[in-house]
Amino acid sequence: LAEETRNEEFADSVRDLLDVVEGELLAAAEANTALVTEAARHIISAGGKRFRPLLVVLASQFGPSAARDDVVRSALVVELTHVASLYHDDVMDDARLRRGSPSANVRWGNSVAIMVGDFLFARASDIVSELGTDFVRMQARTFARLVQGQIAESVGPQDGEDPLQHYLQVVADKTGSLIATSAVFGSKVAGADREVQDILAAFGEEIGMVFQLSDDIIDITSDETGKTPGTDLREGVPTLPILLVRQSADAGDARLLELLDSDLSDDDTLSEALALLRRHPAVERARTEVRRRAEQARALLEPLPDGPAKSALQDLCDSVVTRSS
Ligand code: FPP
Ligand code: MG
Ligand code: MG
Repeated sequence: LAEETRNEEFADSVRDLLDVVEGELLAAAEANTALVTEAARHIISAGGKRFRPLLVVLASQFGPSAARDDVVRSALVVELTHVASLYHDDVMDDARLRRGSPSANVRWGNSVAIMVGDFLFARASDIVSELGTDFVRMQARTFARLVQGQIAESVGPQDGEDPLQHYLQVVADKTGSLIATSAVFGSKVAGADREVQDILAAFGEEIGMVFQLSDDIIDITSDETGKTPGTDLREGVPTLPILLVRQSADAGDARLLELLDSDLSDDDTLSEALALLRRHPAVERARTEVRRRAEQARALLEPLPDGPAKSALQDLCDSVVTRSS
């Protein structure tokens, strides 16, 4: 019973902190004009999993002591950076929907959407400066990885480059990097040892990859993401299930391959490709790979001290695999 009470108290304290972060996110999005404030709050208000803030808060449990304000600042920096990147991402992906609402590029056009992303990134930069030079440097390096991952995705594999290796590098850079940084920020503000920071960095990078691989599967399989299914497909971004289809394709896959090589901007053609993919064994193989990597992430946590924070991180390894939105 004592342990149960302890776990409940822990869960309450995590929720309290995340509530504070929620309010501060909206405050950080306040601008000089009503238009910019509204546009900058658009994606924040639509909700979100707040996966990165959660990781900051959980990681902050692995050091001797964490000042609450610094945990909140760290959470704000990583979530604002993430949200900023989504404004840009939706322009690049020509996405219509985000978190169940029309994307910012649809509401205000590409130029405003891009500038609002920059605005939120500027807010993140402002807040990270309060945490000190080490944090600013990490934030800058993470930003560089995000951008390089996103560019690599756009240009695709170069001559002689293995498409699967290319894809995994994109995923590590565009998603693993910021999630790893979230875990490191949390442990750093808590004054955790270097070894603990390194463990959490490796865990963050791996669970971040699992998160994106799983996102890429549900882009194909789920109708409840608040985004348009098949966006990666339509944009010609080959994700893990597609790469596995291509690796193992046989005569029965002729129509699917034909569709994958064609222009999928037409809704009916896209639906046909999605339907064929959903019942293709490559999707299950992709899921198996995601489960394997999630187990790998969980194993990285082994050396950390037992307690509610470690249990919560272990639970994350399961929920990232089973999520459908
Ligand atoms: C979502 O991928 C996109 C990312 C994880 C990274 C995007 C990074 C940038 C645009 C560069 C960084 C820019 C700033 C301002 C920090 P996705 O398209 O697969 O995911 P989705 O399904 O959610 O659209
Ligand atoms: Mg996208
Ligand atoms: Mg994208």
